[in-house]
Amino acid sequence: MKTIDVALLPNMVNSQQVAGSVAVVIDVLRASSTILTALSNGAKQVIPVNEPQEAKELAKQFPTGEVLLCGEREGNKIPGFDLGNSPREFVPEVVAGKTLIMSTTNGTKACHTAQNASVSVIGCFLNLTAVTHFVNQAEGNVLLITSGKEGRFSLEDVVCAGAFVDKLNAGNEFAITDAARVSQILYTIYKSNLRQMFNTCEHGQYLASLGYQADLDYCAQVDTLTLVPRFTSGIITS
Ligand code: MLT
Repeated sequence: MKTIDVALLPNMVNSQQVAGSVAVVIDVLRASSTILTALSNGAKQVIPVNEPQEAKELAKQFPTGEVLLCGEREGNKIPGFDLGNSPREFVPEVVAGKTLIMSTTNGTKACHTAQNASVSVIGCFLNLTAVTHFVNQAEGNVLLITSGKEGRFSLEDVVCAGAFVDKLNAGNEFAITDAARVSQILYTIYKSNLRQMFNTCEHGQYLASLGYQADLDYCAQVDTLTLVPRFTSGIITS
């Protein structure tokens, strides 16, 4: 029987758990939602890096005009970068055909946590069903990795992990860990009003205070996109 586990924080995952697993990286607000949106709108690839300086160095290896520097610190665009981390910036006219080098506070780092999995994908509410189908067909235990916020628990990521547990285990075909069970319980509490959960969670309130309320509304949508972004050898592609 396959297992579903949830890393309630990325640093709760050890390499043994990741190795051989089917990993889903979740940073609902906003890196997962933004990466998915960018690729759905025609971006060629997204390269997640930890630090802004690393992004700038890497960009030098690409012909001018082919690459966009993207990401945030404290929620806002990194000075000198082309785009921030609001999914609404990543429209086809801006991102189609481009390589995006992205550095965010938590989400892009969480991607690297999943690098030794047998398969790693990027999940959020926007592609809930598509990721569920993909994961169901893949071989291996499922590990849902939540990004958290600077080492701390994030309600919205864990509720999204719970949504995946709920959908994946609808037929009771998996063994689920206590962390997966608690995530699912949280999801059942909030599922009828995800928008309210986004408005009350710490990071949602912080983003709203910066003027990104529309991002909360966007990221709280369920199943509006069907792409399953794959993270392989340091690069996320569709
Ligand atoms: C992150 O990676 O920490 C974020 O996605 C933060 C944000 O831009 O809301």
